[in-house]
Amino acid sequence: MALSETDTASGNQNSFVYVVAGLAALNGLLFGFDTGVISGAMLYIKDTFDITVLFGQSIHPSLVEGVIVSGAMVGAIVGAALGGRLADRIGRRRLILTGAVVFFIGSLIMAIAPTTEVLIVGRILDGVGVGFASVVGPLYISEIAPPKIRGSLVALNQLTITSGILIAYIVNYAFSSGGEWRWMLGLGMVPAAILFVGMLFMPESPRWLYEHGDEETARDVLSRIRTEGQIDAELREITETIQSETGGLRDLFQPWIVPMLVVGSGLAIFQQVTGINAVMYYAPRILESTGFGDTNSILATVAIGVVNVIMTAVAVALIDRTGRRPLLLTGLAGMTATLGIAGLVYYLPGLSGGLGVLATGSLMLYVAFFAIGLGPAFWLLISEIYPMEVRGIAMGVVTVLNWAANLLISLTFLRLVDVIGQSGTFWLYGILSLVALVFCYRLVPETKGRSLEEIEADLRNTSIGADPSETDPTDAVQTDD
Ligand code: GLC
Repeated sequence: MALSETDTASGNQNSFVYVVAGLAALNGLLFGFDTGVISGAMLYIKDTFDITVLFGQSIHPSLVEGVIVSGAMVGAIVGAALGGRLADRIGRRRLILTGAVVFFIGSLIMAIAPTTEVLIVGRILDGVGVGFASVVGPLYISEIAPPKIRGSLVALNQLTITSGILIAYIVNYAFSSGGEWRWMLGLGMVPAAILFVGMLFMPESPRWLYEHGDEETARDVLSRIRTEGQIDAELREITETIQSETGGLRDLFQPWIVPMLVVGSGLAIFQQVTGINAVMYYAPRILESTGFGDTNSILATVAIGVVNVIMTAVAVALIDRTGRRPLLLTGLAGMTATLGIAGLVYYLPGLSGGLGVLATGSLMLYVAFFAIGLGPAFWLLISEIYPMEVRGIAMGVVTVLNWAANLLISLTFLRLVDVIGQSGTFWLYGILSLVALVFCYRLVPETKGRSLEEIEADLRNTSIGADPSETDPTDAVQTDD
């Protein structure tokens, strides 16, 4: 039996939970900084190293550049693949600590790299740290958060991702006059060090502790992040739900979990193939083609970064009030429309000043719609829809898909523009946004206000053909409310 909403969602948190979530959200800062910094640094790395040679072989420079840029994504794929399982095995907190160390070492190696090869090693390590962080940040916050504010707290992680991107744009700008790319990359050590030291003082997830047989510490942790009256109810709920041992990859394919595997995978892929990182990585280049000069393009890129942060903050404020679905669906509808318009702007011949403004405007609106919907909603939903026994590994799998799709977009964007043009590329992303809208409308559940245990119980009840009279009418896997 799932507990009623009043038992679990009354918001009986202790204010310490905000500190824990705020600190854990620094995982997003590593992620965002890494995403935003490389395009700026790359411009100057080329002046320091001979990028026509790698491991003694002469190689096309654009390939070497591609390896440096995408090395982090390859690392992130590996990090996410290992991270899910590790989060279940060694615990959420220890994995955050490990990720911060790996990221720190990667940034340090890049900052002092004597050769391109060493730089690439640093970049891959950095990526592994980001891969860990991308799985375990939302996972940990989701498990320590009270249901009523879980959406906002997990979305904080997306707010720090977008802030990390913006900070990186600003850092790039600040160090560009001297071409100091080592500073640009090395600065990543700062948030990594803060995250590491801060996490030493933070508790492990009470849910993970309970699942690993440490009920006493789980109770202790709850007493630090909840008010007195709430602890017993929450522990009882956890006890009733968590029955089995941590599962493996095979357990993901149980009939009652598969629908959520489909939802998570779909969200992971759609979040990327609708083009957000084409804008994040290539905005200056996209804007230059509208006739904007170098400086204006960079400034407009910073403005896009600001819009991304502000609209993500709006999502943080709204997501527990409106629910996940309304934001997700509105965001996707808006992305479809603005990509359509952006395509049209580029389709018109002779782009000049006026159209440059229109192009920037439509891209800003597109980013705004991503930021209130698909951006935060993906990371939040995947931290909510999986049962405890496979939560880490399931998040690992869908996060790998997300990074793989991210890599695919970053590798294909420029080529796509060559082949089908800038407008064709935007329209393609627009069509994919429309498909994503239909997918989400039909399949994505509403999880607002429910405890993780209620969501899990509902999932079991509906998917294994339980007596319908026992199924909660506001079921978590119901999609049309
Ligand atoms: C999301 C995406 C990430 C992207 C960011 C942009 O976090 O997962 O790939 O760079 O949003 O805001």
